[in-house]
Amino acid sequence: MPSAAPPPAALTARTAGPLRGRVRVPGDKSISHRALMLGAVAIGETTIEGLLECADTQATAAALRAFGASVTRTGAGIWKVRGVGVGGFLEPEDVIDYGNSGTGARLALGLVGSQAISATFGGDASLRNRPMGRVLDPLRRMGVQVLARSKDRLPLTLKGPDITLPIEYRVPVPSARVKSAVLFAGLNTPGVTTIIEPTPTRDHTERLLQAFGAAIEIELGADGERVVRLEGRRDLKPQQVAIPGDPSSAAFLIVAALLIEGSELTIEAVLLNPMRTGLIETLIEMGGDIEIGNRRTIGGEAVGDIHVRASRLRGVVVPAERAPSMIDEYPALAIAAAFAEGITVMDGIGELRLKESDRLASLAAGLGANGVTVEEGPESLAVTGGAVRIGGGDVATRRDHRIGISFLVLGLAGQAPVTIDDATPIDIHFPEFQALMSGLGAHFERAEPAAA
Ligand code: S3P
Repeated sequence: MPSAAPPPAALTARTAGPLRGRVRVPGDKSISHRALMLGAVAIGETTIEGLLECADTQATAAALRAFGASVTRTGAGIWKVRGVGVGGFLEPEDVIDYGNSGTGARLALGLVGSQAISATFGGDASLRNRPMGRVLDPLRRMGVQVLARSKDRLPLTLKGPDITLPIEYRVPVPSARVKSAVLFAGLNTPGVTTIIEPTPTRDHTERLLQAFGAAIEIELGADGERVVRLEGRRDLKPQQVAIPGDPSSAAFLIVAALLIEGSELTIEAVLLNPMRTGLIETLIEMGGDIEIGNRRTIGGEAVGDIHVRASRLRGVVVPAERAPSMIDEYPALAIAAAFAEGITVMDGIGELRLKESDRLASLAAGLGANGVTVEEGPESLAVTGGAVRIGGGDVATRRDHRIGISFLVLGLAGQAPVTIDDATPIDIHFPEFQALMSGLGAHFERAEPAAA
């Protein structure tokens, strides 16, 4: 059965005093899904520390159990996964429910598609509307049979062949999830599966595959192309994976601290993979006082403590080439832009229309409702900052956690309260948000949903 959403719960954020202190954000979502999945196809027991515990990763854990792996929580953020080997998935008895998780579903399509079993993928209303074709196209070329709803939407059934074919695939849009799904399918495919990325994207899959002992090679072309080759049908070795804090969650705290007068915040142990730091680069260009200390490596990934002080920001033009390194951070950036002096132009971000909601439309509507001038282009957003009175609006989250959190931040930093119609999607990815911000001095009030 597809998952039913909990009843909506409206939430109001109003002007907050300075945010001060040291905090940690939950583990990185991308690495959490990947670590669970690779643990499930390794032989033996993988231990994961710092796993993001939220509805999305719970869906991935439940799915992996249905495919025969043992996945157990042994402490806060500590999980053990006993894997079944690269071709060892069992056929699940029922539909696999990926809830709201676009990342869980897309990565799993690759992992499951190359197994000689049938499996049916379902999800919530938002996930059932999101296109899966960009992952299914290469899988079809590998010999996977797919029966999907129109426009390649969920629910859909995969039937893997006895032997998948290795392919060379040039990823047509910058997408780490498409790349990763093909590499995951390549794990149970004889021969060499090759991915060519004209525009490099986050490389957590490659790093983890290396750690788990996969036969993987990465080549960087002179023109910036990345070529990843994976030889399949090799056993993976279980690992101890430590997951750093999610920079996409830290983004909201960084923006809130920059905007709320007198704030000074340190966010510890945040993932600083260069393919994830576009927002920090942009906020520094805007005049944000952000320093990174205690740089170190955790689980093969760059990590640091981010120190932020409230700052006056100015508008900038964010180049389209930066989009892959901050694709999930545009909602947070749009809030910062609303308070910056001048116009912030974000180009080349049509991909935002395909996320948990059409984020260009959600942001334009929410900013407009809160007195901010915004121009929505087909693939761009231009936000004019510094209105006299920002806030006072009701915002539709459209079941999109990043839209909900972003507008709560706007309410904390603005001159008038902001009410989001539904805070429940926040639990999908960042359930600690409210408690964490309250601990730093912010207040939220449960509110009656705005009258239609
Ligand atoms: C993700 C990649 C990005 C990002 C998503 C997580 C990943 O999506 O928006 O939240 O874990 O690889 P695309 O691959 O669709 O660009």
